[in-house]
Amino acid sequence: MPLSHADRILKVNHAGEHGAVNIYRGQRLVCFWRDEALKRELEEFREHEERHRAIFAAELARRGVRRCRSYWLCGLGGFVLGVTTGICGRASIAAVTVAVERVVLRHLEVQLKELDGVDPAAHAAVAAIIDDERTHHDHAAQEPRQGIFRPRVIRPTVSAATEFVIWTGMKL
Ligand SMILES: [Fe+2]
Ligand SMILES: [Fe+2]
Repeated sequence: MPLSHADRILKVNHAGEHGAVNIYRGQRLVCFWRDEALKRELEEFREHEERHRAIFAAELARRGVRRCRSYWLCGLGGFVLGVTTGICGRASIAAVTVAVERVVLRHLEVQLKELDGVDPAAHAAVAAIIDDERTHHDHAAQEPRQGIFRPRVIRPTVSAATEFVIWTGMKL
Protein backbone atom coordinates (compact mmCIF):
# COMPACT_ATOMS: atom_id res chain seq x y z
CA MET A 1 0.00 0.00 0.00
CA PRO A 2 1.37 3.44 -0.83
CA LEU A 3 2.39 5.59 2.12
CA SER A 4 0.08 8.38 3.20
CA HIS A 5 1.42 11.84 3.92
CA ALA A 6 0.99 11.10 7.65
CA ASP A 7 3.02 7.87 7.26
CA ARG A 8 5.80 9.85 5.64
CA ILE A 9 5.79 12.43 8.40
CA LEU A 10 6.04 9.71 11.05
CA LYS A 11 8.85 7.96 9.19
CA VAL A 12 10.86 11.15 8.74
CA ASN A 13 10.34 12.21 12.33
CA HIS A 14 11.39 8.76 13.55
CA ALA A 15 14.64 8.96 11.55
CA GLY A 16 15.17 12.55 12.71
CA GLU A 17 14.79 11.55 16.35
CA HIS A 18 17.38 8.83 15.78
CA GLY A 19 19.67 11.55 14.45
CA ALA A 20 18.96 13.70 17.52
CA VAL A 21 19.68 10.83 19.91
CA ASN A 22 23.03 10.40 18.20
CA ILE A 23 23.92 14.09 18.22
CA TYR A 24 23.57 14.12 22.02
CA ARG A 25 25.30 10.74 22.32
CA GLY A 26 28.26 11.98 20.28
CA GLN A 27 28.46 15.23 22.21
CA ARG A 28 28.27 13.45 25.54
CA LEU A 29 30.95 10.97 24.49
CA VAL A 30 33.58 13.63 23.90
CA CYS A 31 32.53 15.82 26.83
CA PHE A 32 33.97 13.60 29.54
CA TRP A 33 36.27 16.33 30.82
CA ARG A 34 33.68 19.09 30.78
CA ASP A 35 31.43 20.28 33.56
CA GLU A 36 28.93 17.99 35.21
CA ALA A 37 25.96 20.24 34.50
CA LEU A 38 26.58 20.09 30.74
CA LYS A 39 26.99 16.32 30.81
CA ARG A 40 23.78 15.87 32.78
CA GLU A 41 21.96 18.13 30.36
CA LEU A 42 23.20 16.16 27.33
CA GLU A 43 22.10 12.92 28.97
CA GLU A 44 18.72 14.36 29.85
CA PHE A 45 18.14 15.66 26.32
CA ARG A 46 19.24 12.33 24.87
CA GLU A 47 16.63 10.59 27.02
CA HIS A 48 13.97 12.93 25.65
CA GLU A 49 15.03 12.14 22.09
CA GLU A 50 14.94 8.41 22.84
CA ARG A 51 11.41 8.81 24.11
CA HIS A 52 10.44 10.73 20.95
CA ARG A 53 12.00 8.04 18.78
CA ALA A 54 10.04 5.37 20.67
CA ILE A 55 6.77 7.27 20.16
CA PHE A 56 7.27 7.36 16.38
CA ALA A 57 8.58 3.78 16.30
CA ALA A 58 5.45 2.56 18.07
CA GLU A 59 3.15 4.43 15.71
CA LEU A 60 5.03 3.15 12.64
CA ALA A 61 4.83 -0.40 14.00
CA ARG A 62 1.10 -0.07 14.65
CA ARG A 63 0.62 0.93 11.00
CA GLY A 64 3.00 -1.65 9.64
CA VAL A 65 5.14 1.07 8.03
CA ARG A 66 8.86 0.41 7.75
CA ARG A 67 11.45 2.81 9.06
CA CYS A 68 12.86 5.39 6.67
CA ARG A 69 15.69 4.38 4.41
CA SER A 70 17.57 7.40 5.77
CA TYR A 71 17.40 6.04 9.34
CA TRP A 72 20.96 4.73 9.67
CA LEU A 73 22.41 7.66 7.77
CA CYS A 74 20.61 10.06 10.13
CA GLY A 75 22.14 8.21 13.08
CA LEU A 76 25.61 8.30 11.60
CA GLY A 77 25.35 11.94 10.52
CA GLY A 78 24.04 12.91 13.94
CA PHE A 79 26.84 11.09 15.67
CA VAL A 80 29.56 12.72 13.54
CA LEU A 81 28.00 16.14 14.08
CA GLY A 82 27.76 15.44 17.81
CA VAL A 83 31.39 14.39 18.16
CA THR A 84 32.81 17.28 16.14
CA THR A 85 30.77 19.92 17.92
CA GLY A 86 31.11 18.27 21.32
CA ILE A 87 34.89 18.66 21.05
CA CYS A 88 34.43 22.39 20.44
CA GLY A 89 32.54 22.83 23.70
CA ARG A 90 29.35 24.24 25.11
CA ALA A 91 28.85 27.19 22.80
CA SER A 92 29.12 24.98 19.71
CA ILE A 93 26.82 22.41 21.27
CA ALA A 94 24.27 25.14 21.91
CA ALA A 95 24.63 26.48 18.36
CA VAL A 96 23.83 23.03 16.95
CA THR A 97 20.80 22.58 19.18
CA VAL A 98 19.42 26.00 18.26
CA ALA A 99 19.96 25.36 14.53
CA VAL A 100 18.42 21.88 14.54
CA GLU A 101 15.50 22.68 16.82
CA ARG A 102 14.58 25.84 14.98
CA VAL A 103 14.13 23.90 11.74
CA VAL A 104 12.47 20.98 13.53
CA LEU A 105 9.98 23.21 15.35
CA ARG A 106 8.97 24.91 12.14
CA HIS A 107 8.32 21.54 10.51
CA LEU A 108 6.46 20.17 13.53
CA GLU A 109 4.14 23.15 13.56
CA VAL A 110 3.33 22.66 9.87
CA GLN A 111 2.84 18.93 10.48
CA LEU A 112 0.38 19.59 13.31
CA LYS A 113 -1.70 21.76 11.01
CA GLU A 114 -1.59 19.21 8.20
CA LEU A 115 -2.54 16.31 10.47
CA ASP A 116 -5.22 18.08 12.45
CA GLY A 117 -8.55 16.35 11.82
CA VAL A 118 -6.91 14.12 9.19
CA ASP A 119 -4.93 11.61 11.21
CA PRO A 120 -5.50 11.83 14.98
CA ALA A 121 -2.89 9.21 15.93
CA ALA A 122 -0.12 10.89 13.92
CA HIS A 123 -1.22 14.28 15.25
CA ALA A 124 -1.00 12.97 18.82
CA ALA A 125 2.51 11.61 18.21
CA VAL A 126 3.76 14.98 16.94
CA ALA A 127 1.93 16.87 19.69
CA ALA A 128 3.58 14.63 22.30
CA ILE A 129 7.10 15.79 21.47
CA ILE A 130 6.81 19.44 20.51
CA ASP A 131 7.10 20.87 24.04
CA ASP A 132 10.37 19.03 24.64
CA GLU A 133 11.80 20.37 21.38
CA ARG A 134 10.80 23.87 22.37
CA THR A 135 12.53 23.41 25.72
CA HIS A 136 15.71 22.20 24.01
CA HIS A 137 15.67 25.18 21.68
CA ASP A 138 14.96 27.79 24.35
CA HIS A 139 17.51 26.38 26.72
CA ALA A 140 20.28 26.35 24.09
CA ALA A 141 19.33 29.81 22.83
CA GLN A 142 20.19 31.20 26.27
CA GLU A 143 23.83 30.16 25.94
CA PRO A 144 25.60 33.49 25.96
CA ARG A 145 29.07 32.67 24.59
CA GLN A 146 28.26 31.89 21.01
CA GLY A 147 30.37 34.70 19.55
CA ILE A 148 30.28 35.49 15.86
CA PHE A 149 31.74 32.39 14.25
CA ARG A 150 29.21 29.91 15.58
CA PRO A 151 25.99 31.69 14.62
CA ARG A 152 27.44 32.52 11.21
CA VAL A 153 28.94 29.15 10.36
CA ILE A 154 27.46 26.37 12.47
CA ARG A 155 23.87 27.57 12.41
CA PRO A 156 23.37 27.95 8.65
CA THR A 157 25.31 24.77 7.88
CA VAL A 158 23.41 22.68 10.39
CA SER A 159 20.07 24.27 9.45
CA ALA A 160 20.66 23.48 5.79
CA ALA A 161 21.67 19.90 6.61
CA THR A 162 18.56 19.43 8.75
CA GLU A 163 16.31 20.79 6.00
CA PHE A 164 17.99 18.48 3.51
CA VAL A 165 17.48 15.43 5.73
CA ILE A 166 13.78 16.21 6.15
CA TRP A 167 13.30 16.98 2.46
CA THR A 168 14.97 13.78 1.25
CA GLY A 169 13.30 11.71 3.98
CA MET A 170 9.87 12.79 2.73
CA LYS A 171 10.78 11.55 -0.79
CA LEU A 172 12.18 8.18 0.23
FE1 LIG B 1 13.13 14.98 19.54
FE1 LIG C 1 15.22 17.92 20.66
